[in-house]
Amino acid sequence: MGEQKVIEEIEEAMKSKTSMVFAINGERFELELSSLDPSTTLIDFLRNKTPFKSVKLGCGEGGCGACVVLLSKYDPLLEKVDDFTVSSCLTLLCSIDGCSITTSEGLGNSRAGFHAVHERIAGFHATQCGFCTPGMSVSMFSALLNADKSHPPPHNGFSNLTAAEAEKAVSGNLCRCTGYRPLVDACKSFSADVDIEDLGYNSFCKKGEQNRAEVLKTLPCYDHATSQVCKFPEFLKEEIKNGMVLDPRKYRWSSPVSVSELQGLLSEAENGMAVKLVAGNTSTGYYKEEKQRTYERFFDVRRIPELAVVRRDEKGVELGAAVTISKAIEVLRGEENVSMLEKLADHMEKIANRFVRNTGTVGGNIMMAQRKQFPSDLTTILVAARATVKIMSSGSGQEEFTLEEFLQQPPLDTKSVLLSIEIPSWSSVKVKKNGSSSDTHFLFETYRAAPRPLGNALAFLNAAFSAEVSLSEELDGIVVHDCLLAFGAYGTKHAHRARKVEDFLTGKVITDEVLMDAIGLLKDEIVPDKGTLNPGYRSSLAVTFFFEFFGSLTQTNVKTSNGWLNGGEVGLDHEVESLKPEAMLSSAQQIVENQEHSPVGKGIVKAGACLQASGEAVYVDDIPSPENCLYGAFIYSTMPLARIKSIRFKENRVPEGVLGIITYKDIPKSGKNIGTKGFFGSDLLFAEEITHCAGQIIAFLVADSQKLADVAANLVVVDYDTENLEPPILSVEEAVERSSLFEIFPRLRCKPVGDITKGMAEAEHKILASKLSFGSQYFFYMETQTALAVPDEDNCMVVYSSSQVPEYVHRTIAGCLGVPEHNVRVITRRCGGGFGGKVTKSMPVAAACALAASKMQRPVRIYVNRKTDMITTGGRHPMKVTYSVGFKANGKITGLDMELLLEVGISEDISPLMPKGIQCALMKYDWGALSFDVKLCKTNTVSRTAVRAPGDVQGTYIAEAIMEKVASYLSIDVDEIRKVNLHTYESLKLFHNAQAGESPEYTLPMIWDKLAESSGFNQRRKVVEEFNASNKWRKRGISRVPAVYGVSMRLTPGRVSVLSDGSVVVEVPGIEIGQGLWTKVKQMAAFSLGLIQCGTTSDELLKKIRVVQSDTLSLVQGSVTGGSTSSEASSEAVRICCDGLVERLLPVKTALAEQTGAPVTWDSLISQAYLQSINMSVSTAYSPDISTGAYLNYGVAASEVEVNILTGETTILRTDIIYDCGKSLNPAVDLGQIEGAFVQGLGFFMLEEYLMNSDGLIVTDSTWTYKIPTVDTIPRQFNVEILNSGQHKNRVLSSKASGEPPLLLAASVHCAVRAAVTEAKKQILTWSNNQQEIDLTFELPVPATMPVVKEFCGLDVVEKYLEWKVQQRKNV
Ligand SMILES: Cc1cc2nc3c(=O)[nH]c(=O)nc-3n(C[C@H](O)[C@H](O)[C@H](O)COP(=O)(O)OP(=O)(O)OC[C@H]3O[C@@H](n4cnc5c(N)ncnc54)[C@H](O)[C@@H]3O)c2cc1C
Ligand code: FES
Ligand code: FES
Repeated sequence: MGEQKVIEEIEEAMKSKTSMVFAINGERFELELSSLDPSTTLIDFLRNKTPFKSVKLGCGEGGCGACVVLLSKYDPLLEKVDDFTVSSCLTLLCSIDGCSITTSEGLGNSRAGFHAVHERIAGFHATQCGFCTPGMSVSMFSALLNADKSHPPPHNGFSNLTAAEAEKAVSGNLCRCTGYRPLVDACKSFSADVDIEDLGYNSFCKKGEQNRAEVLKTLPCYDHATSQVCKFPEFLKEEIKNGMVLDPRKYRWSSPVSVSELQGLLSEAENGMAVKLVAGNTSTGYYKEEKQRTYERFFDVRRIPELAVVRRDEKGVELGAAVTISKAIEVLRGEENVSMLEKLADHMEKIANRFVRNTGTVGGNIMMAQRKQFPSDLTTILVAARATVKIMSSGSGQEEFTLEEFLQQPPLDTKSVLLSIEIPSWSSVKVKKNGSSSDTHFLFETYRAAPRPLGNALAFLNAAFSAEVSLSEELDGIVVHDCLLAFGAYGTKHAHRARKVEDFLTGKVITDEVLMDAIGLLKDEIVPDKGTLNPGYRSSLAVTFFFEFFGSLTQTNVKTSNGWLNGGEVGLDHEVESLKPEAMLSSAQQIVENQEHSPVGKGIVKAGACLQASGEAVYVDDIPSPENCLYGAFIYSTMPLARIKSIRFKENRVPEGVLGIITYKDIPKSGKNIGTKGFFGSDLLFAEEITHCAGQIIAFLVADSQKLADVAANLVVVDYDTENLEPPILSVEEAVERSSLFEIFPRLRCKPVGDITKGMAEAEHKILASKLSFGSQYFFYMETQTALAVPDEDNCMVVYSSSQVPEYVHRTIAGCLGVPEHNVRVITRRCGGGFGGKVTKSMPVAAACALAASKMQRPVRIYVNRKTDMITTGGRHPMKVTYSVGFKANGKITGLDMELLLEVGISEDISPLMPKGIQCALMKYDWGALSFDVKLCKTNTVSRTAVRAPGDVQGTYIAEAIMEKVASYLSIDVDEIRKVNLHTYESLKLFHNAQAGESPEYTLPMIWDKLAESSGFNQRRKVVEEFNASNKWRKRGISRVPAVYGVSMRLTPGRVSVLSDGSVVVEVPGIEIGQGLWTKVKQMAAFSLGLIQCGTTSDELLKKIRVVQSDTLSLVQGSVTGGSTSSEASSEAVRICCDGLVERLLPVKTALAEQTGAPVTWDSLISQAYLQSINMSVSTAYSPDISTGAYLNYGVAASEVEVNILTGETTILRTDIIYDCGKSLNPAVDLGQIEGAFVQGLGFFMLEEYLMNSDGLIVTDSTWTYKIPTVDTIPRQFNVEILNSGQHKNRVLSSKASGEPPLLLAASVHCAVRAAVTEAKKQILTWSNNQQEIDLTFELPVPATMPVVKEFCGLDVVEKYLEWKVQQRKNV
């Protein structure tokens, strides 16, 4: 069809088009535009108006990937389909007119059959809670689809996707559970260039199976060519050809097709009318308030040809403002391989993540920077590339500016439009300049320092430099003819050029002295604005990058290496480059599958794994809303201690759709204001007259939809007054001073071990009153807090709660409503992650919904938004530690005296349990004598609670910090000190009493030695030493750390029932939070029922068993899922029930066999039992005694890291773990727990800062500010061995726990970083005149973020080095 004809047809169709048409998973959707709110996002629509709930809301900011879908666009002119991922939380529904959307259930599902991506995720054990998994599936699928588009994929079911690309495929998606390694392996399994041996533990092939062809046959089939998935629907193609443009004047949303049309629309928009230009709409992920603003008109600029232009020729590259960042990268890469453009493209690949870059445009980014001072990467690198912009301004028509000028102008008015950006080719710039000679060279480089190497994190500082230089024989060096130095994102309004430095350098020969002077000038020019976080670090980065660029051009370097002249390569320490960390992730697992109690002990696939991958697994917020359902949002205090005078709406106008605000005054007379009925008393649901902390819940707003409720909650104003109130207590020191402490019950108090006075007296050395401190950590479950309350007859209430402790949720609701407990039923099927955050913190969420539902007699639900969740839930306990330690000359510790101040917050929560946890983990070493005093400080901050390995993780680290301190005091290798202080079995018993178990159970010393061998620890220490001796800017550290973790089991009920068809239903109180509890329970039921021996294989039996949701009226006394033992306790309860059933069934079987003379099958046995009216349901309450209920877990990890001392960046090169799982109930599940816990611990030690402002209000409240680990921050090589230790007669089938203990092993990374930093400090010592300056006994804070590491390596390390170099030369 001719182009003209298509255009004519489109124009014709415009006149009649009134609706938008699109496809979701092949299904046609048509929506009348007149009835559409253009601010509706795609996720809103998918989750609320379609059955496709696989898209999950994790953040609503474009930062997590849980909502990712595949968007396919058809181009009728080229007859071509583009497929790419987008974040449905940022994509506006109106913008998908004519598009086809594929969600994870669209790839495959339980009815139509799962997709190979789903099956491989399941088979590689790459899903735990499953909340991130649909998004992961779509990201992987999109990578495969695009890799296999251009060239036919290789035969035998492989994809063109390379293993390296596979790693990047999920780099923008967050997962809090798995630790990423299995996800990457699942994705890599599609790559033709993968070595099957490199793939991790999976259910398809065993390690060592060499026959590649045979192994491949076992992998779920991937056949791109015949796959029907994601074929662009024919009906939509037809409709697109028939007409795709709407009359732009009719609706609130319009898509003009020319600049003049847009101009007309903008000028028509009456003055004062709120209009918005929209491209990808991704800016609303950062400017979240934008999502809540009401605009009268939206103009989608992406169909305007001038804004979509892409031109690349000898003059340079022109990019229309509406060109996406992904497209721009493709264009800049081009075919001609121009170094500067390549570098721009490389840098742009680190902007956001793939699904944001796919829709986020170049123009949108520049406008965010120009209008709102967004810390953009793009503007910095484009300023350095001397880009210009074309503007269509409302007043003066088209104008052209340099980008630099444009950024400095006042914010562009809303009626002006950025049309395009032009990046001139270097030759065109050069021609304009005087004095350039033919032998000058053009250098260009970009830089960014951010917590995640592959992107998805804003930079602390970015920079891009260009320089024209030449080698001058005459001046004996390299002369700078011209240079441009741009810096951005460091806390100034816009990207900034260091002009004084540019001027200074122009015409100069680069020498160390010149660099020193230039750095002096630079430090005055690149100064973050007041209030910017880490200002010193950011300024030091400017120096670092400057030095990286020019450092290799100094006279001396030129003489030794002039490689840059040939290849334009600039870089430091060329010898280091070849030793760069491995590009690809690799791993090894050693696992023993125990056959003795099969299927217990086998690494079977997690129950429901494919359902999780396809997104069909139902979480609380996926339950369809009952008719008349209302939605809630919390209103929380922003003041630490204040009287609440009033709660009102801004301008006293109640927003439409709001039905009320519920406060403590709405609690029924028979009820109580309780939001938590926990283990040590109860806590308020709502603040009453006075709020006692920022983040305390004040009220619950109820509205017609979740969006309305959230928007309206932001419009609520709380008036406070603090008159006659004491000042709040905001630090532990103040709490102690004002005696604001919670009591610790005698049985929970830590008991001293040995005689501390004697211990200290025996010491040959002492370190006195040394201090340590820790901040908090947020759970970051991917599914935030959520509940749905449905009123039932006779004053009853059914509540669906995402909770780890439904029993206590139940009690809380009954207490709050003032009804008997039998009036309440709490149902929990699964949680999208818990990590302790859904114990006490789930209770007020469910209680508030129940209270509102009771008051309004309508169903009420809430899905707490990420910000509110982060602000109100509290996280781990911050703490301050003061200790004195005495030790012998060989490092053997004789006494440790310690005081801990725990910041508990405003209520007790589980805090009285903390001291025991801390002490137990601390006692992994023999301290000789130990005295331990803990104070639970009551502060006016949000109440802290249990977060995976609560207290233990701090306890373990305190122990390591002491080891490090003693080692540096004595100048003995810290590994020696650790070894000397490891327990003997006798000292273990002394410290841990009965928990120590029998002597053979103490496997730690054996693991300690085994790991040294398996990881080549001692040889690698030598290699590390050599590396450090020969590298200036990168230092390595290696560290081996043990962990001891005490667990105890609780009363655990269970019920197993056999139905008439032989299928089995299992009820346990343990909640499936991702830890594989259901899987282990199923295995145990299959094993135990299999003992009846009816010719049914364990696999057949497994298929007959279903574990069902927890229901507090069906199984009472469910207690809490936490403390790592719920899986084994639930399994044991089930085993007891099954034994009961077997006992009942055996006589039936014997009789039946005698009667028929034939083997009895399971089905015939059950039919017979039913005929005989045997009770086919057995319940129990497993009550562990002390000998089985409490025991110690052991593990050892060795980690090796590389620290870039110029930027503070840490790369974890390798981690080896050996963990004693006893006889693992399911090694696949336990491996997942070990890796996942370790990576979560990594977050605590290295990345995650959960910070408060001076009022105690959490300020790191989003994915922008709170950085959990991503695939690019985990160990490059990750080896885990599950020790199959012998019989433990008191354990459940000899198994041990795995959920929390391995988290402690992440301390090894922190210790290794400290070792690397020590090396950096020692190096500075060799450069420094002032030897006193450097303290080698330093405490490296937790988390050791990039700014922290850099600070300890020396913010001025470059300056020191240059000074030293210059001095050296002078001395010669
Ligand atoms: C999770 C996430 C991480 C990110 N990380 C980074 C990062 O590391 N570095 C970085 O540089 N950026 C980052 N970004 C920013 C990202 O690049 C921008 O969000 C994106 O480029 C904006 O493009 P858009 O098309 O979505 O703009 P939109 O959201 O559609 O528009 C942005 C603004 O510009 C206006 N506008 C759009 N087009 C025009 C035009 N042609 N003329 C006038 N006004 C216009 C809009 O009205 C709006 O006010 C990140 C974004 C997200 C969501
Ligand atoms: S919910 Fe969309 S990216 Fe997190
Ligand atoms: S499985 Fe990824 S977040 Fe739980």
